[in-house]
Amino acid sequence: MLSPQWLDELRARVTLSSVIQRTTKLQKAGREWKACCPFHNEKSPSFTVSDEKGFYHCFGCGAHGDVIRWMTDQRGLQFMDAVKELAAQAGMEVPAPDPQAAKRAEKRAELVDVTEAAQQWFVDVLHSDDGTKAQRYLATRGFSDKVIREFGFGYAPDSKQALANALSRFETPMLVESGMQISVEDKAPYDRFRDRLMLPIQDQRGRVIAFGGRILDKRDGVAKYLNSPDTPLFDKGRTLYNLHRASPASRQSGRIVVVEGYMDVIALANAGIADAVAPLGTALTEQQIEMLWRIVERPVLCFDGDAAGQRAAMRAVSRALPLLRPAHSLAIVRMPPGLDPDDLLQQKGRGALDQLLDSADSLLDTLWQYERDAQPLNSPEDKAGLKARLLAHVDTIADQDIKALYKRELLERFSAFAFPPRERKPWQPGGFKQGKPAPRRSDPAEIRRLRASAEGGSLDRLTAAVVSGFLKFPDQIDRHADVLAEAAERDPKVANAVNPLLDMAEMLEDGENSPISDDIGHFVPPDKSHFAFLREGIDPQDARKDLAEAVSLLVERPALKAALAAATARFETDPEGAFAEQQRLLKRKLEFDARLGQMASIRAAETQPELGTTPEPETAGEQETD
Ligand code: UTP
Ligand code: MN
Repeated sequence: MLSPQWLDELRARVTLSSVIQRTTKLQKAGREWKACCPFHNEKSPSFTVSDEKGFYHCFGCGAHGDVIRWMTDQRGLQFMDAVKELAAQAGMEVPAPDPQAAKRAEKRAELVDVTEAAQQWFVDVLHSDDGTKAQRYLATRGFSDKVIREFGFGYAPDSKQALANALSRFETPMLVESGMQISVEDKAPYDRFRDRLMLPIQDQRGRVIAFGGRILDKRDGVAKYLNSPDTPLFDKGRTLYNLHRASPASRQSGRIVVVEGYMDVIALANAGIADAVAPLGTALTEQQIEMLWRIVERPVLCFDGDAAGQRAAMRAVSRALPLLRPAHSLAIVRMPPGLDPDDLLQQKGRGALDQLLDSADSLLDTLWQYERDAQPLNSPEDKAGLKARLLAHVDTIADQDIKALYKRELLERFSAFAFPPRERKPWQPGGFKQGKPAPRRSDPAEIRRLRASAEGGSLDRLTAAVVSGFLKFPDQIDRHADVLAEAAERDPKVANAVNPLLDMAEMLEDGENSPISDDIGHFVPPDKSHFAFLREGIDPQDARKDLAEAVSLLVERPALKAALAAATARFETDPEGAFAEQQRLLKRKLEFDARLGQMASIRAAETQPELGTTPEPETAGEQETD
């Protein structure tokens, strides 16, 4: 296994620009390099390479990564191949894997020989005289010859020993262990797949590891689809059908679509949609969700429009909630009732499907709509029931920040729905935190603390600006109270600033009437931080929106830090996954710094960011994320 230290050493020994220069013409720009982006078409250069940071970044298409990422994404190498090639250049030895793992890999390699040979044979049979019936069925599905070849359709004849005879060069136990034959006591082993249209299931490297077989015509008591059992090669819950083709397509499109069946995947490919995968006859597993998240942040899941489809969608939602991490979610599409993606394409064409995919609901929307519509809402008990169901979902979210955000959003929707606006009292100072005794109106110590926070002191600029923002717009405290409290719990420095704010919330009023104005003279939040929402004369609507964004940055910051640490810790056990995760988080951090820079810097507002420089975290973020 490759350790993070070893990978860091490798990155340090290879100069990124020299690797990129082999295929892409770079121009020196200060301490960095720039070029027309090799990942998308452009006329003026927005692709930058920084040897100091060890990253390339495109401001046009967002392509981003380090030297290993360059080798996998631009040169199309597998992770290990990229590492080997770079190590050879750097004069480093790739550490040898442990002998146990080597033995298991050898075993799998032997079994792959069986499944690959079976695949070859199924294809041959389909195109022989024995395959006429299957050919005729296949024709009814309307797939192009290219797609039929690409997806490797084959046919298993109606025989208990035909496969064993064709693959007689393999010993029977190998046929059984690879799932191709069934062995029960007292009986000779016999072929698992008989009289079925065959589809190879491939791993991420495209090797055939299992099969799915479909009956050609309806027969009572016979399952429409039969899959290989789990074998040393094939773990259903950790395999996604078509991932090896979809994942490069997804890196291009920034999207991955999850449909329910393999025929849907193939129908999509037939219509030119290459970024689709499917689980293998089971609900989406945690591992499959994680696999999808390594490719894109928001996989799009398609479900039937009927009640069963909606229950399946909720199963996926429930499975995802405990796993949610910053920036990772699911989008969910509900198909029109009675149509799967294959049917929809046949009946309404690609445009209809594209439209549906573009209008996917968020995970939160799906959860909300499902629970909202699950029961009528006539009595107080019904309302309490809905609220309890929503909170029960929230409780399963492990990530504290996301949990707080979900809670706030779902409760807001609940209130608006259960108690429509006309029945609601508008927010009033004093409406916050009932039951807690208000601090005395002029507690000078509290006021001094609050004022000190707003002025910054030992705080970073973001926290100070947020406190100042709430002093300027105290009517916003109530909305953000939960999230602020959560942020305070995670970071004692933030707590010092935020707690006086929450304690005093009910006493704060705009401007002149604020107790801190009364007691210590008119208080103007200092504008050291250059945050736009603190400027004089800014539209209050915009300022409130900006303030909300600043709050979300404040919440995201520690989460991002924790996620990066977790990804680094995971390197030992899952180098490839941890690596991909780390790359995405680093990109996220760069975006975070850029957003912060945009919000906080007057310079950013006055001058266009210059092409050819990576966003400087220094503008406001120096201690913000580390
Ligand atoms: P569907 O019944 O929706 O099939 O099952 P489909 O994908 O639309 O297939 P066609 O169009 O009738 O050929 C969806 C998925 O559920 C699994 C398969 O993975 C299938 O793709 N399934 C279904 C089984 O594993 N066994 C079955 O008997 C039926
Ligand atoms: Mn179908």
